[in-house]
Amino acid sequence: MSRSLNLAVIPGDGIGQEVVAEGLKVLSAVLPQDVKLETKEYDFGARRYHATGETLTDADAEALKQHDAILLGAIGDPSVPSGVLERGFLLKLRFLFDHHVNLRPSKLLPGVATPLAGQPEIDFIVVREGTEGPYTGNGGTIRKGTPHEVATEVSVNTAFGVERVVRDAFARAQARPRKKLTLVHKNNVLAFAGHLWTNVFNAVAQEFPDVTTDYIHVDAATIYLVTDPARFDVIVTDNLFGDIITDLAAAVSGGIGVAASGNINPSGEFPSMFEPVHGSAPDIAGQGKADPTATVLSVALLLRHLGHDAEAVRIEDAVSADLAERGTLPARSTSEIGDALSARVAG
Ligand code: NAI
Ligand code: MG
Repeated sequence: MSRSLNLAVIPGDGIGQEVVAEGLKVLSAVLPQDVKLETKEYDFGARRYHATGETLTDADAEALKQHDAILLGAIGDPSVPSGVLERGFLLKLRFLFDHHVNLRPSKLLPGVATPLAGQPEIDFIVVREGTEGPYTGNGGTIRKGTPHEVATEVSVNTAFGVERVVRDAFARAQARPRKKLTLVHKNNVLAFAGHLWTNVFNAVAQEFPDVTTDYIHVDAATIYLVTDPARFDVIVTDNLFGDIITDLAAAVSGGIGVAASGNINPSGEFPSMFEPVHGSAPDIAGQGKADPTATVLSVALLLRHLGHDAEAVRIEDAVSADLAERGTLPARSTSEIGDALSARVAG
């Protein structure tokens, strides 16, 4: 654990600006006096794109690389053609910094509404592979725009890429009380990739004899996430399946306002990036209506990643306490929620 914290801050677009301000407020409040916090703000997103046509230059990447971690709000705006910022910034950074572990915890906290019947026990994390699968841009089109158009989108799975994310997931499962890891795939139909995942999973399992293992097809996983989410502790899965089931996981465990995530480079070769799962919400931007809780919980993930576990726990406890009371309080603005959380972590 370092006694200084040098953070790159990317507020981005829309509500990203509003929620990141609150995340930093809580971060400043929770850090002990002797931890020196340095932040540098970057203007990536729609403004930068409109001003310069740039999304993420080599010099930008070099500058970001110097930080301990990155806090991101959201990138995306209706004024920018779809795909430009997603590919030019979000995906580009994920590949450049080799963020191969996409971490998304789901915990239903007391007082938080879920669309599920009853108040089921939900406390699991999804470890989604971040750099392979069908997201590598390995494909193409011929006869475009004709009735005979052909499109391929090849799912790339390497033994190296699968093993490192599976190993990370086993270690995370081992560190949790239940010590259970579920592989989610579709190995009955996607047999080539599925067998690679299954074989690697079973091989790495030998090194973690105290971790209970399980396998579920992705379609069945969507059923259990709704009917029996308590069966999950840690889930490891490929990029596409992970993208889909984590949205479902967020929906059943309190919604987009509280869903946090980390794009992690476990080796530390490049800084990891932490962000709320939600986007820039142009429909409510600039109105002080955005819930900053997901960003604040992303700050907790960031702190835990850097070894500041006690501070991460203080933030999570503050969020739990605040959420438990929320139903009884009048609606609060983005900054009022940030103030309340800051007061709790400081107090
Ligand atoms: P979105 O998550 O921005 O909004 C979906 C709905 O949830 C909206 O009704 C919004 O008002 C609401 N919402 C989102 N966050 C909220 C919060 N903190 N508090 C209260 N309500 C909240 O998703 P959408 O509309 O699909 O995308 C908007 C833009 O964000 C697009 O440009 C998209 O590409 C981008 N985006 C960026 C992401 C990132 O930077 N990693 C992730 C997802 C979307
Ligand atoms: Mg998604």
